[in-house]
Amino acid sequence: MSTPSQYRSDAVDPAAVPQRKLYTGATMPAIGLGTFGSDHVTPAQVAEAVMGAAATGYRHFDCASVYGNEAAVGASLEAIQRGGVKRADLWVTSKVWNDKHDDVIGSCRKSLADLRLDYLDLYLVHWPFPNFHVPGCDVSSRSADAKPYIHENYMKTWRQMEELIDLGLVRHIGTSNMTIPKLKLVLRDARIKPAVNEMELHPHFQQPELFKYVVENGIQPIGYCPLGSPGRPERDRTPEDTSPTEDPVILDIARRHGVHPAVICVKWAVQRGQSPIPFSINNYLANLQGAVSDPLSEEEMQAITKLDRNCRLIKGQVFLWKDGQSWEALWDIAGEITAP
Ligand SMILES: NC(=O)c1ccc[n+]([C@@H]2O[C@H](COP(=O)([O-])OP(=O)(O)OC[C@H]3O[C@@H](n4cnc5c(N)ncnc54)[C@H](OP(=O)(O)O)[C@@H]3O)[C@@H](O)[C@H]2O)c1
Repeated sequence: MSTPSQYRSDAVDPAAVPQRKLYTGATMPAIGLGTFGSDHVTPAQVAEAVMGAAATGYRHFDCASVYGNEAAVGASLEAIQRGGVKRADLWVTSKVWNDKHDDVIGSCRKSLADLRLDYLDLYLVHWPFPNFHVPGCDVSSRSADAKPYIHENYMKTWRQMEELIDLGLVRHIGTSNMTIPKLKLVLRDARIKPAVNEMELHPHFQQPELFKYVVENGIQPIGYCPLGSPGRPERDRTPEDTSPTEDPVILDIARRHGVHPAVICVKWAVQRGQSPIPFSINNYLANLQGAVSDPLSEEEMQAITKLDRNCRLIKGQVFLWKDGQSWEALWDIAGEITAP
């Protein structure tokens, strides 16, 4: 793999990228590159995109052990630093997978080794359920020993997350795929509170209540599937799903700005205050440029706010713990943690 030029002529100056200030005082680039290659993009292609994205000005990379490509991404991160980007100017996130809730420190050390780093900027508990499923499995598959959310167990995992900070292996810890009732308990019991919550956020799934809750509690929302994940696996599609990049209002705004509808989703996310992490191997430059130029007007922002359809795309069915349950059980929609 070649070392990227840090100075592509069409690159965005990383200093021009908006930053989010976390409660620790640290700053995180307001847009990052997702690295989940789903079922169709190889680790080598993702690694190449990480190199290319760094050359165009990205400094924030959203990784996870379960994406199965951290070793390839790590080779790119090493090359990016050899090419002159300082470690302190990178923001690298990784996540502990569901089968490692009892071995958070071991899992983090493995990600650090694969990513060729001696610390992570952010480490997340990927899902609040310790329910393993084989990557690529069918949506109807269930783990025989699947469990509901058990707060006591989550806190055992969280204590290990806190220890990672004490050990200097990670700078910030955070949650992902959480709900307000679960976060309330974590905020009550944590010694070190989450700095971010990673959650699905796009114009058709704006999660206004959870968004407001995390912001009011000093937690930065990171938005996954910010474009409505057009490349997600078949198993994550249902007939009710809608696509923000095909929404007539987004198409109209995109026409006016002369960009792809996906770029409008990025602009909206950055201006709203979350940190989108769009995945891309072909369009990452357009997304970064969209985040720093030609902002949406107040009217356009309001028009997009009205598009919310409460359309969750990543429903998480494989993490259900009982036969006959519907995916809504994972998301505490009645306002309290779903009974076991
Ligand atoms: N915490 C969690 O549980 C969780 C769950 C899901 C995802 N994530 C993270 O969030 C990231 C993003 O989510 P995602 O990958 O599912 O979906 P996404 O970012 O909403 O969509 C990615 C898709 O959009 C296309 N695309 C990107 N920019 C485009 C543009 N400007 N014009 C046209 N097409 C464009 C990409 O194609 P090209 O490659 O061809 O550009 C790719 O197929 C993941 O990679 C992962 O890091 C986290």
